[in-house]
Amino acid sequence: MKLWALPILLALLLQEAGPASLLKKERKRREEQSPRESETYTLPHVGTDVLSPDDYHEIIDLSSYEELTDYGGQLPEVEWSSMAPLARTSPPQSSMSARTPSPSLPVTRPTEPGLRHSLTSDHGLPTCLVCVCLGSSVYCDDADLEDLPPLPRTTVYLYARFNRITHVRAGDFKGLTKLKRIDLSSNLISSIDADALHLLPELQDLILSENQLAALPWLPRGIELLDARRNRLQSSGIQPEAFGALERLQFLYLADNLLDSIPGPLPLSLRSLHLQNNKIKSMQRDAFCDPAEHRHTRRLLEDIRLDHNPINLSLFPDAYFCLPRLPVGRFT
Ligand SMILES: *[C@@H]1O[C@H](CO)[C@@H](O)[C@H](O)[C@H]1NC(C)=O
Repeated sequence: MKLWALPILLALLLQEAGPASLLKKERKRREEQSPRESETYTLPHVGTDVLSPDDYHEIIDLSSYEELTDYGGQLPEVEWSSMAPLARTSPPQSSMSARTPSPSLPVTRPTEPGLRHSLTSDHGLPTCLVCVCLGSSVYCDDADLEDLPPLPRTTVYLYARFNRITHVRAGDFKGLTKLKRIDLSSNLISSIDADALHLLPELQDLILSENQLAALPWLPRGIELLDARRNRLQSSGIQPEAFGALERLQFLYLADNLLDSIPGPLPLSLRSLHLQNNKIKSMQRDAFCDPAEHRHTRRLLEDIRLDHNPINLSLFPDAYFCLPRLPVGRFT
């Protein structure tokens, strides 16, 4: 594709996509701030050739929108699904090659010879044809996948929700050292190879809700959010030291599983622990607080859900002294 065609593609893309409204909002805000400034701040027009590949990257790289809009739930689904067909039917390969000047953009070609499957999905198509690759994000939602496709090395955010993936293999995330978020919710995953998440130093968010897991995989140290709601997790499927060493873990969502005890030890960084709708009958005295250290507090852990478990929380009056707030559940 010729370089002059870039602005056209961009204008189309921005018009179609949700982010356009963001840009419009931003423009409006600037107009309000300073009417004179707005004269010089316009969206790229067809036929303007002032847009360098670097500018293009700046506008199109959705990794910054990621922070603004958090694709994980707040953004209406509709905006993204209306965008997907355009991105899928447009020829990513040619538009990608026009963008190659910027090193942080996804490439559909292998970055080195012999990379697995030449980044080809199990459909036999390049991953970025089956999925939508935008900036450092790869969107594979609802794409009929039975396996994770090989991913560009630059992937930071991966969404592969609503597929039929049954198994996560040891090599699926190999070499993806930039990965920060993996969202595999609403698949059929019943097992994850023990070392599948090894060597993901940047991983912060792991979302596995609505799958069929009976056990949790080994978790990388830097993890902040683990969402494994609506699985078949049993207490025997959680290693005794699974969470203790995760010094950045803040949100642990394990509701709607088959757990019969409160997992622990829990790191001091934890803010939310959701265990509602499990089979928890009893609790250790030191589930949350250290009974030997009465001045010990867990000021961050404000949100514990133990409702819809067969436990009588009144039977453990000594278990909550260090908490800023009592757990939610049955106290009678
Ligand atoms: C829960 O435990 C408390 C304290 O021992 C007791 O008074 C209460 O009857 C128990 N409630 C139920 C429903 O077992």
